[in-house]
Amino acid sequence: MSEAVQSSPLTEREFKGYQRLVYREAGIWLSPAKKALLVGRVARRLRELGRLSLGAYLRRVEEDEAERLRLLEALCTHETHFFREPRHFELLEREVLPRWRARGDTGSGEGRRVRVWSAGCSTGEEPFSLAMVLRHHLPAAEGWDIQILATDLSTCVLERARQALWPVEKAEEIPKHYLRAYMLRGVGSQEGRMKAGPELRALVRFQRVNLNDDDGMVGRFDLVFCRNVLIYFDAASRARAVERLLGHLSPHGLLFLGHAESLSGQGWQVRTVMPTVYAPRLPAGEVARRG
Ligand SMILES: C[S@@+](CC[C@H](N)C(=O)[O-])C[C@H]1O[C@@H](n2cnc3c(N)ncnc32)[C@H](O)[C@@H]1O
Repeated sequence: MSEAVQSSPLTEREFKGYQRLVYREAGIWLSPAKKALLVGRVARRLRELGRLSLGAYLRRVEEDEAERLRLLEALCTHETHFFREPRHFELLEREVLPRWRARGDTGSGEGRRVRVWSAGCSTGEEPFSLAMVLRHHLPAAEGWDIQILATDLSTCVLERARQALWPVEKAEEIPKHYLRAYMLRGVGSQEGRMKAGPELRALVRFQRVNLNDDDGMVGRFDLVFCRNVLIYFDAASRARAVERLLGHLSPHGLLFLGHAESLSGQGWQVRTVMPTVYAPRLPAGEVARRG
C-alpha cells in the first residue's frame, strides 16, 4: 500500500464524490470493487502534489479541468493491440472490402470515398491496423480516398497515437505482409521502435472526443469501430453512446464493438452481421434508434 493511502484513507463520502465525478465526466461507473484501483492509480500523483490527501485531491479535480482529465486518464484502461479481435479484420478482408471494390463504391454512395471512425482509439494500434487493411485493399492508385478519424477521451494517448511510434516488439502483432509494406524500423535514436510509414500516417487524423458528451462531430462513417470502451460505461451512458455511434453511421455502414459488448436484445434497430458487428436496419438517412 502506498504512503498516500496510509496517511489518508478514502472515506465512503469521498469515494462517492469520485464516483459521481467520473460518471458525470466520462460515463464510467466506478463500482465499489474499484476503490483499490482508484487509490492505486492516483497514489503517484498525490505524492507529486506534496502528499495531498484523497479528499483534497477530489476538491482539486472538481475545480481544475486539466487535473480532472489527468484523473480520468489514470483511471481508464488503455490496453490495445494491433489487429485485436482478428475476426473483425477478416470480415473486412473477406466480405466487406471485396464488395466495395466490386461496386467501385464505398457503400455511402459517394464513389471511392471511405470514412472510418475509431472511437476510443487509445495509442493508435486500432486505427493504424484499419489503415493497413484499407490501404492494401483499396489502393490510392485506383482512386480510393480513405480517411480515418481516431478519437479518444485522453489527450495523452492521442498524442502517442499521433506520433505513430511503438516498441518494435509490437511488430509481432502485425501480419508480415502489412509489416513489410507499411511499417518502418527505427534506427539510431529510434532503435527499438517501429513507426508507421508516411502513406499510413496520411490516412489518420486525431481528435479528442468524449463519447459521454455532446461530441460536436459531424459526418457519417462507413465503418465505426468502438471496441472495448463501452464495457466501462453503465447502461444509461452506454445507451447514449450507442445512439451517438449509430447516428454517425452511414446507412450502409457497419458498427464494430468489442468481444464483451453486444447490442442484442436491447431494441436497437440494427441487424447482426456477426456477433459484435452491426448494420443499421433503417432506410437511408434515419438513425437506428431503439425501437
Ligand atoms: C481499452 S482501450 C480500447 C482501445 C481500442 N479500441 C481497442 O479495442 O484496442 C479504451 C479506450 O477508451 C477510452 N475512453 C474511455 N472512456 C471514454 C469516453 N467517455 N470517451 C472516449 N473515449 C473513452 C480510454 O481513454 C481508452 O483509451
